[in-house]
Amino acid sequence: MIRLSSGIPDVDKKIQGGFPEGEAILITGEPGTGKTIFAIHFLYNACKEGHKCAMIATEETPEKIIDHGRSIGLDMEPFVESKQLTMLRLLEKRVSNVEDKYGNVSMNVSDLNNFKYIIPEDVEVIVLDNLGAFAIGMELKLFKDKLETLVYTFSEEKKTSLIIMDATAHELTHRIAEYSTYGTIRLMTKENPYTGKMERFMSIPKMRETEISLELINYTITGEGIKLLQPKTNR
Ligand SMILES: Nc1ncnc2c1ncn2[C@@H]1O[C@H](COP(=O)(O)OP(=O)(O)O)[C@@H](O)[C@H]1O
Ligand SMILES: [Mg+2]
Repeated sequence: MIRLSSGIPDVDKKIQGGFPEGEAILITGEPGTGKTIFAIHFLYNACKEGHKCAMIATEETPEKIIDHGRSIGLDMEPFVESKQLTMLRLLEKRVSNVEDKYGNVSMNVSDLNNFKYIIPEDVEVIVLDNLGAFAIGMELKLFKDKLETLVYTFSEEKKTSLIIMDATAHELTHRIAEYSTYGTIRLMTKENPYTGKMERFMSIPKMRETEISLELINYTITGEGIKLLQPKTNR
């Protein structure tokens, strides 16, 4: 099985080397847990490895995402300039073909299954930030059908995808998205029982074809991005 690095070497060690190629991985968490940062690690690394990539963003502009990457030392602008990375900004309102300074197209896509029309055909790696924007207000069965069609289409075309979903939309849809994707990574903040402090934790409850451990993995976010920490136990 071919795997694609998550972009975070220590995370790769927890999933037998990376995400299964051509499959969709879901990443969920509350605001500020590092979902976008995780996606930037993944994208930057995939670009560096020569894959053609696309990022579809519903919340932040491409400029903000580029700045966010730079703040952790991962500058994606050269990849945008060389057209290896396409940044697509989806807007709530109908605005068609508005080009920004990166030459990125902003367009309204109210339907998840219209992505195939906006993602360049030769793209191998896709990040969607945030699926929640398409889930709220949609009937559950319809949402599941649309997500499954999307995941199926990506997989048929051997596109590896990282699909971000905010915790609110995820709860509102009864975490149903986790059944449709190949793997799930949950990001959270919780009190560490050993330190009594609120800390960041990651769990990987599902990764098909992959041996995983269900432990909570302690991590931090610094100027160098996501770093996994060794468990602080008295073992
Ligand atoms: N350059 C940085 N240096 C230190 N911490 C950072 C940096 N960039 C982001 N963070 C931390 O990551 C958090 C946000 O991560 P983000 O990926 O935007 O979260 P999410 O997408 O889950 O809402 C910030 O609240 C901050 O604590
Ligand atoms: Mg985000």
